[in-house]
Formats: sequence, C-alpha cells, structure tokens
Amino acid sequence: MKWTKGLFALPAAEICIAQAYAEYDIIIVGGGVAGLVLADRLSENADSKVLLLEAGPDPSDDPLISTPAFAGESWPSKYSWNFTEVPQTNLGGFEPQLNLGHVLGGGSAINFMAYCRGAQSVFNEWANISGIRELAWDYIIDDFRGCANLFIPDPLPYTQTINESVYSRDGKVFVSYDRSDRLSQLEPDFWNAWLDDLQQPAQVADLNGGTGIGLVKGGPHAVRNSNGTRSYAWSSYGYRAATRSNVKILHSSRVIKINFDNVGRDTPRAASINYVSGNSTSVKTIVGKEMILSAGAINTPRLLLLSGVGPKDHLNSLGIPLIKDSPEIGLNVRDHHLVVNIFQAPSNIITATSLSNATRLAEFQAQYDSTSGGPLSEPGPQSSTFFTERVPDDILDSFGVNVSFHKSLPKDRPFLAYQYAGVSFLPQFAGLNAVTAFVALVQPEASGYVRLKSPNWQDDPVISTNYFGSDADLAIAKYGYHRLLNKTRSDALSRVNVGEVFPGPNMTTTQAFQQGAQTYHHSVGSVSLGKVLDSQFRVKGITGLRVIDSSAIPVITTCHTQSSVYALAEAAAKIIKAQG
Ligand SMILES: Cc1cc2nc3c(=O)[nH]c(=O)nc-3n(C[C@H](O)[C@H](O)[C@H](O)COP(=O)(O)OP(=O)(O)OC[C@H]3O[C@@H](n4cnc5c(N)ncnc54)[C@H](O)[C@@H]3O)c2cc1C
Ligand SMILES: *[C@@H]1O[C@H](CO)[C@@H](O)[C@H](O)[C@H]1NC(C)=O
Ligand SMILES: *[C@@H]1O[C@H](CO)[C@@H](O)[C@H](O)[C@H]1NC(C)=O
Ligand SMILES: *[C@@H]1O[C@H](CO)[C@@H](O)[C@H](O)[C@H]1NC(C)=O
Ligand SMILES: *[C@@H]1O[C@H](CO)[C@@H](O)[C@H](O)[C@H]1NC(C)=O
Ligand SMILES: *[C@@H]1O[C@H](CO)[C@@H](O)[C@H](O)[C@H]1NC(C)=O
Ligand SMILES: *[C@@H]1O[C@H](CO)[C@@H](O)[C@H](O)[C@H]1NC(C)=O
Ligand SMILES: *[C@@H]1O[C@H](CO)[C@@H](O)[C@H](O)[C@H]1NC(C)=O
Ligand SMILES: *[C@@H]1O[C@H](CO)[C@@H](O)[C@H](O)[C@H]1NC(C)=O
Ligand SMILES: *[C@@H]1O[C@H](CO)[C@@H](O)[C@H](O)[C@H]1NC(C)=O
Repeated sequence: MKWTKGLFALPAAEICIAQAYAEYDIIIVGGGVAGLVLADRLSENADSKVLLLEAGPDPSDDPLISTPAFAGESWPSKYSWNFTEVPQTNLGGFEPQLNLGHVLGGGSAINFMAYCRGAQSVFNEWANISGIRELAWDYIIDDFRGCANLFIPDPLPYTQTINESVYSRDGKVFVSYDRSDRLSQLEPDFWNAWLDDLQQPAQVADLNGGTGIGLVKGGPHAVRNSNGTRSYAWSSYGYRAATRSNVKILHSSRVIKINFDNVGRDTPRAASINYVSGNSTSVKTIVGKEMILSAGAINTPRLLLLSGVGPKDHLNSLGIPLIKDSPEIGLNVRDHHLVVNIFQAPSNIITATSLSNATRLAEFQAQYDSTSGGPLSEPGPQSSTFFTERVPDDILDSFGVNVSFHKSLPKDRPFLAYQYAGVSFLPQFAGLNAVTAFVALVQPEASGYVRLKSPNWQDDPVISTNYFGSDADLAIAKYGYHRLLNKTRSDALSRVNVGEVFPGPNMTTTQAFQQGAQTYHHSVGSVSLGKVLDSQFRVKGITGLRVIDSSAIPVITTCHTQSSVYALAEAAAKIIKAQG
C-alpha cells in the first residue's frame, strides 16, 4: 500500500479509484478529549497511518486557553459551538444555551479544568451494559491512573484525603491540587459551611479513588504546576501525536458526511468522509479503512444522522437516504443540569470582575509571569470546593413522587453536587463583584435527544437534554436548591456574602429554576454502548465505523466528565490495538 503524505483531498470522481489504496488506516473525526487520546495511542504503531480532522481552530499559545482564570471567557467564542436547546417543559419553555468545545482539545480546551471521577459503581455498570470487562472500576482505574500526573503542594495548605495510588507521576494530563497561591479566597467559607452542616455533615474524601460521596478541597484541577497553565488534550496527547510522521492533524476541517459502500446489503461499510475546511463550503473527500467518530455527545449523533445512520422514521421524514436503521442513535442523552444562586462579595474578594480592572489585571499578570501563581492561575476563576451528597430515603419518600429510580441506584451514588465560582453565571449581574453558588442533579432519571432540523449540515441540530425531566428529578433538584440557599444565606458564609442578587427574597423556586437553570456541560450517552455500539465500540450493523467519546457513555458519571472520557478512550485504544 502506498502512503502519500499530504494527499488527503480527492475529487469525488476519484473516490472509486482511491478505495483500492485507502491512504489512511484510521480516520478520526473530532480532535477533542477522546479523539486526541486515540490519535496518540493508535499511532504508536508506526505502520498505522492516522488522520484526525477537527472542526475548530488550533489554540496553541493563545493565553485565553492556556491561562486558567480566563476559562469563563472562552465561550461563546470561535472556540465553541453555540447551540440553543428546544423549549424545556420544566423551565416554563425556556430555551437554554449549550456551548461545547470547537477547538483542538475540544471541551478540555475551554472547560473549568475540574478533574473528578466519582462513584465507582458507575464504571461497573458501564462494564455490565457494554460487556466490556475493561471498563469496570478495577480495570479502568489503570487508565485513569495512567492519564493523571499528580501534583500535591508541599505543604498542603488544607486538610484533604489524597489517595496517591490512583494517580501517577508520569501521566499525560497534569492534575494538581491547588497551591495556597492558587486557592480561592472563598474556599474555607464554603467548605466549612458543608462540613459543619447540622443536617448532613460532609465527609472529606478523594473523589478520584472510587468514592462517590464527599467533599473535596483544592480542586484538583487539570493544571500544569510548573507554569500554572491549563493541561488539556491538545497540549498533552495531541502535541505528542502531532510529532509522528504517520499522523496528520487537520484543524478548521469539519466532517459533514460519512460515505458507505455495500449499501443495501447486510452490513454497509464506512468508506470515506466528506469535509469542508476553513470558511470554504467546497467539499473534499478522503478515503480510509476505518472511521472513528469522536465529535462529542451532540455532534457525533448529528453526523451519523446526516450520513443516513439512525432512526428510520426520522431520516425518512427528512428525505435522507437510509444506510442503517439504528433507532437508539440520538436518544438516551443525559447531562448534569444546575441552578444558580448569585450573591455579591466584598470588594477585597477577587472575582472575574477584578480581572476587568486593568490595573489589577496587570498586577496579577506580573505575579503569574514571575511565580506561575496568583489569581490568573486559578481556574474558573476561583472554583474549587466540590461537594456531593445522596438524599436519604426518608426524605425522598416525603416528596410524594415516584422515587424508585433514585432509590434503586447503588449506594455509592450521590444525587446532588454543589460547587461555586467567582463569576456571575447570569449576564445581568456580570458587572458586580459576584459569586455564583450552584447545585446540580448528577444522576438524572430522564433522558433527552439529538435530532436534525433538516438534511443541511449547516443547520444546528434539534437538542433537548431534558432539564429535570422526571418528577423525582425535579423534586430532588428543588430539595438541593433549598439546601444551597440555606447554606449561602447562613452565618457560615456571611463573611463573603454581602447581598444576594439571585433569586432574592421575592422569587419562587419555580421562577428561580426558569431563570437560573443551565448546563454543567457534561452531556453524554447519545450513541451509547450496549444500545448502539457493540463491545468493540463498533456501530452495530456497520463495518469500519466506531464511536469513542462521551456519546458512547451508557451511564452518566457522578462528577465532571473529562477524566472519564480520557480513561474511556485509553481503554478503547487498548482494545483496538489488542485486535492487531
Ligand atoms: C464549557 C465547558 C465546561 C466544562 N467543564 C468541565 C470541567 O470543569 N471538568 C470536566 O471534567 N469536564 C468539563 N466539561 C466537560 C468535558 O470537557 C467533556 O466531557 C469532554 O470534553 C468530552 O470529550 P469528547 O471527546 O466526548 O468531546 P469534545 O471534547 O467536545 O471533543 C469533540 C471535538 O469534535 C469536534 N467536532 C465536532 N463535530 C465535528 C465535525 N463534524 N468534524 C470535525 N470535528 C468535529 C469538536 O469541535 C470538538 O473539538 C466542560 C465542557 C464544556 C464545554
Ligand atoms: C460561536 O459564537 C462566536 C461568537 O460569539 C462565534 O465567533 C463562533 O463562530 C461561533 N461558533 C460556531 C462554531 O459557529
Ligand atoms: C454488574 O453485574 C453484576 C453481576 O450481574 C452485579 O452483581 C452487579 O451488581 C452489577 N453492578 C452494577 C453497578 O450494575
Ligand atoms: C485508594 O483507591 C483504591 C482504588 O479505588 C482503593 O482500592 C483503596 O482502598 C483506596 N485507598 C484508600 C486509603 O482509600
Ligand atoms: C508551560 O510549560 C510547558 C512545558 O515546559 C511548555 O511547553 C508550555 O509552552 C508552557 N506554556 C506557557 C503558556 O508558557
Ligand atoms: C474565516 O474568515 C474569517 C473572516 O474573514 C477569518 O478571520 C478566519 O481566519 C477564516 N478562518 C479560516 C480557518 O480560514
Ligand atoms: C482598580 O484597581 C486598583 C488597584 O487595586 C484600584 O486602585 C482602583 O480603584 C480600581 N479601579 C476601579 C475602577 O475599580
Ligand atoms: C416508578 O418508576 C419506576 C422506575 O422509573 C418505574 O419502573 C415504575 O413503573 C414507576 N411506578 C409507578 C407507580 O409509576
Ligand atoms: C437552614 O436549615 C436549618 C436546619 O434545618 C434551619 O435551622 C435554618 O433556619 C435554615 N436557615 C435558613 C437561612 O433557611
Ligand atoms: C420584595 O417585595 C417587597 C414587598 O413587595 C418589596 O418591598 C421589595 O422591594 C422586594 N424586593 C426585591 C429585591 O425585589
């Protein structure tokens, strides 16, 4: 087989000829967390020619991406997809925004860098559903460990349990507990509020060691300690992959269709992809032996649907020729949804607003440049303490709704997660020295969907992540919101809370949900293992097509999702390589 470097764009008429000598063994669609892990691992074999296409730009050296404190400004921007969901029933018809990474690094380039794995029973359930033993906690812990390069400040400026055995010192992604000069000034107030809670006091735990329920201080964050920069999929896995001569990475290159041969027979085969690059809409085609979709939980099902793989009725209604009827594609979407509580902090507390003061920003920049610490090295800005809890059965029973789903979940699963950030999550308070405290539902019962609006690849998809979509989901979220307000309004936070601006005294909980709900940006499940994918991550009924990314996740984790997508992709790469 001839390997012609740089020959990647063929006119349509030449596709048939090209198939005889597909110039890539593997074509990866999407250069986010999963896609870059796969590009790196699958190209370790120098005989394997790997091409990765990423729709978004290359952010290398852009301080907006590398400086942790600027995370909140990185979306919406050229680095994000900016979707709007359909009207949500439980938000009085409100249409929430959904921004996702559109950049080399994907979500890991624009996220808040929280690094958390959560309850181990989730991974055991992944293994049960998928039939992939390697996804069970006792196995996937090796992949988690291998990814995560641990930094612990010495001395550690707070009391925190750290299970060092579940991290490594040579992993690709730097995972750092916050140094004292990277610790939010709000931290002690928040953690003490939860630790001293009379109703249900928190226990300090390492939520990366398999424990689902507890309070974690000081991050940890995906930050490189040596220079206080974001550690993400492009700078970790991507840079290494890009050095290899058998790898080609094209950014600003958006795949718009997968082409199949053997259509009409039992198993269609993915043969090539169509893509557009830059601002051009002229379509180019590339042939490959195998395609791996890693475009994320919204864009992966979107691309399958555009290519004729999905529910027959939906595709027929849009006039898209059916390649394979796969009814579950685009269903089973789950996300973590949160509701906010915003208050003003005293002027001596540093928040995002402090960064908009040019004098202070220059001081912070000088500190950052000389010490790699200070406010600019704080992700978010200023967002660390993370607390999860399960709602006791007797309280669940008092809600008067069907709580059997949540009650039946393994006992290590929390239902609610609490966090905060030194920034207003609602635009109307952006000018204030504001802090947002929030609570998220982390094991939702209800699921949502991704559908197409039209056969045109340029039209945004129709998305519903189904906010608080069952009676129990809504009741638990409301309970969590009351718990959150109880804390932020208590004496424990009176030092940092000098005036609540949302929801305020006169708003009902229903109104607060309708005006203050948003995504945690953790969508998963739209092309899930077990339902759509087999135990080799292959789309059932199709040859040469795998899906490896957050869409494949069959059960949402109890924590932030990036750590699990890294580990899932590492596990999948091993499975693929073991096949030879
Ligand atoms: C704003 C935000 C904040 C978050 N905060 C956190 C956090 O603090 N901690 C945490 O753990 N997780 C966080 N997450 C979630 C985490 O980043 C995601 O779970 C993770 O990135 C998902 O990985 P993925 O590989 O499935 O998809 P992504 O990382 O989203 O990568 C998919 C890539 O595919 C590209 N793509 C899509 N369609 C095409 C196409 N047609 N052609 C070519 N390329 C395409 C996209 O541009 C993107 O780069 C956050 C996410 C966001 C968006
Ligand atoms: C998202 O919005 C920003 C402006 O807010 C825009 O520059 C960018 O192009 C949009 N992203 C996409 C993928 O369209
Ligand atoms: C996985 O399956 C095993 C065997 O059937 C069962 O004992 C276990 O409870 C299941 N675990 C989860 C988390 O579903
Ligand atoms: C650390 O994590 C491992 C893996 O989950 C677990 O087996 C071990 O018991 C944990 N150690 C402590 C001290 O919690
Ligand atoms: C941070 O350090 C790494 C390793 O030395 C380097 O590659 C990277 O460019 C640095 N980033 C910045 C923004 O200085
Ligand atoms: C697309 O066009 C804009 C505006 O002309 C330009 O700034 C940008 O660099 C172009 N993008 C690419 C990838 O060529
Ligand atoms: C900006 O910060 C400087 C230094 O802390 C302070 O003196 C000044 O009053 C601030 N400016 C505004 C507009 O708040
Ligand atoms: C309650 O919910 C469970 C799980 O979702 C479901 O199986 C059951 O049928 C429901 N019970 C009633 C009475 O609706
Ligand atoms: C918070 O809850 C506690 C315990 O239930 C209660 O005593 C207290 O009054 C509540 N505080 C507020 C501000 O609601
Ligand atoms: C709440 O309502 C009371 C009584 O109508 C009113 O005096 C007060 O100004 C309102 N507060 C806010 C923050 O709107």
